[in-house]
Amino acid sequence: MSERVSVFAPATLANVGPGFDVLGMAIQGLGDIVTAERRSTSGVVIECITGDHGRLPRDACHNTAGIAAQAVLRLAGRENVGVALTIHKGLPLGSGLGSSAASAAAAAWATNVLLGEPLTRQDVLHACLEAEAAVSGWHADNVGPALFGGVFIVRTYEPLDFVTLTIPANLVIVLVTPQHELPTAEARAVVPQTISLAQHIANSGHLAALIAGLCRGDAALVGRAIDDVIIEPARAHLIPGFGAVKAAALEAGAFGCSISGAGPTLFALTDDLRQGANIAAAMQAAFEEHGIRSRAIVTGGSNEGARVVDA
Ligand code: HSE
Repeated sequence: MSERVSVFAPATLANVGPGFDVLGMAIQGLGDIVTAERRSTSGVVIECITGDHGRLPRDACHNTAGIAAQAVLRLAGRENVGVALTIHKGLPLGSGLGSSAASAAAAAWATNVLLGEPLTRQDVLHACLEAEAAVSGWHADNVGPALFGGVFIVRTYEPLDFVTLTIPANLVIVLVTPQHELPTAEARAVVPQTISLAQHIANSGHLAALIAGLCRGDAALVGRAIDDVIIEPARAHLIPGFGAVKAAALEAGAFGCSISGAGPTLFALTDDLRQGANIAAAMQAAFEEHGIRSRAIVTGGSNEGARVVDA
């Protein structure tokens, strides 16, 4: 068994348009790193968090990384082991990029590796779900891809049954994060509890076409299938400038544009890196016109999930 291990878990783009709470994908180049070290006193403690400006709870029972690590010890029957966590936040909080899920996945996988990998990734997913439920609800569309990488599709939650797919290499993902925090709880509070048959038909068609596009590596089909007629319209007002920024992305040639997870990050899709940069610039300019500064990244999907890295 190791004495110390560091794990990186990627950012995730949840929902991807019509896949509310059932579909997410891992993102390249962004994520959190959690280091787990053995201690002689049993239980999980958080020794240090960097990159959160002091905002996350240091009590392991109230922090997603701490809750996920505790759940791993419990599921592995190793609650006698002591684990100290150091969390390096690479992801902004409340941005729609799966920040809490990345910390949970990294902490859970690091703890599992520290114990000599008694649990499978599927077991560890349950630990991550517990952690995510404590902060944003019982959904696996962020923790799933953060742990497994690729596209993660939940068929059912009871029992938990999921499918993973490879993200096409030609899919270029533009992420634009406005300086406007949106707590997940607030974004979930506006989600409609009932929908019409027409909305169901529209979103089912989009979701089916989205999966087909991902399987075929057809970025244009993926882009036009991210049209969500249920959740996006309900949340749009929570993101200042949403309509203008989406219009700017489409005008700059994006195949589609929607909200990343619970927002406020918006994502747009293309299959060309240079066009991705133009789309990002157009989206940032539209936010700027609403007096909102933003950060943009042009990247791709990550088919790797949580993994051991050097500390
Ligand atoms: N599916 C979730 C939502 C992801 O949109 O609320 C955010 O955690």
